Amino acid sequence: MKVLFIGGTGFISTAVSRMAIAEGFELYVLNRGARSAPLPGSQSVTADIHRPDEVHAALPDVEFDVVVDWIAYTPDDIERDLALFAGRVEQYVFISSASAYQKPPAHYLITESTPLHNPYWDYSRNKIACEERLMRAYRDEGFSATIVRPSMTYDSNLPIALGGWGTYTLADRLLRGLPIIVHGDGSSLWVVTHADDFGRGFLGLLGNEKALGEAFHITTDEVLTWNQIYQTIAEALGVEADIVHIPSDFIARMAPQMSGSLLGDKTWSTVFDNTKIKSFVPGFQAIVPFEEGIRRTLAWFAADAGRRSVDGAVHAEMDRILEAYGEKSR
Ligand SMILES: NC(=O)c1ccc[n+]([C@@H]2O[C@H](COP(=O)([O-])OP(=O)(O)OC[C@H]3O[C@@H](n4cnc5c(N)ncnc54)[C@H](OP(=O)(O)O)[C@@H]3O)[C@@H](O)[C@H]2O)c1
Repeated sequence: MKVLFIGGTGFISTAVSRMAIAEGFELYVLNRGARSAPLPGSQSVTADIHRPDEVHAALPDVEFDVVVDWIAYTPDDIERDLALFAGRVEQYVFISSASAYQKPPAHYLITESTPLHNPYWDYSRNKIACEERLMRAYRDEGFSATIVRPSMTYDSNLPIALGGWGTYTLADRLLRGLPIIVHGDGSSLWVVTHADDFGRGFLGLLGNEKALGEAFHITTDEVLTWNQIYQTIAEALGVEADIVHIPSDFIARMAPQMSGSLLGDKTWSTVFDNTKIKSFVPGFQAIVPFEEGIRRTLAWFAADAGRRSVDGAVHAEMDRILEAYGEKSR
């Protein structure tokens, strides 16, 4: 199968690219080449997806069985992809987000039929608009789309709600014995999925005719509380977490840029029913427990000091919120 990944070297997609190559897919990976060297075994395509001239030059008249856009966020991105790939692809896969599911949730258990409605987070509303545009294209324009909604997925990133997504900052705080913020009382339920597990389900959808016009989430069945997530990270680092619980709405008032991600997502207990992906991809089962997956992530960070980027602005922000919440007087 000839497959194009737009992105392909990100937090989720790196693992999936490697798995696709190992499974014998003819994989083309389009990105700017800024993050990493080309993945061995793939065809590297260098272009900025927002620059049509570069994309046309890099992909002249190429047809693919499957195109996966890992980095489409707005309906404009979808229009661009429709213009690029309509009539040139058997299956187009849009990476949406499980944060698109109804918030606040009417029921803690999420299936693919849960309504898509998120009044709190622009990011999620844009993903919903992308999905709607694609379903119209599927129904009215014969464009074969599949939608995949990852929930929090990790590999070379720490799966956290606060503390510097994509950086080592939270681990740095833990290792230095600094307090960390856990939203609410840390008892709400959450699901963190290792990218290898996501990939096992995801690759089964590629070239799968039954998946056209369908939407899926792909998560582990392991359910944790936020306290357990942070405590497991701390244990894997060999330290004890100094957790300070702060209500989400207080954090959102102090740091409005976190409000969508907290009030529109991580504040709510979220558990996924994975029956659909299991029925479309027989044999799919997530197999990486968090205790093991986080050790792999920390080993990845440990292997190279250049990977352990610490964001001073995030430290300062955490300290500012803690101070405002009265931590100094603890
Ligand atoms: N991780 C999660 O927990 C989670 C949860 C829900 C949804 N999602 C969704 O998953 C997707 C993210 O996937 P990911 O983790 O693999 O991606 P990612 O970590 O955001 O990586 C971005 C990738 O896109 C490339 N890229 C960025 N800007 C580009 C541009 N202008 N032109 C061409 N390539 C560009 C990057 O390489 P270069 O920098 O070299 O170009 C890299 O390969 C998003 O759609 C997100 O909404 C993720």
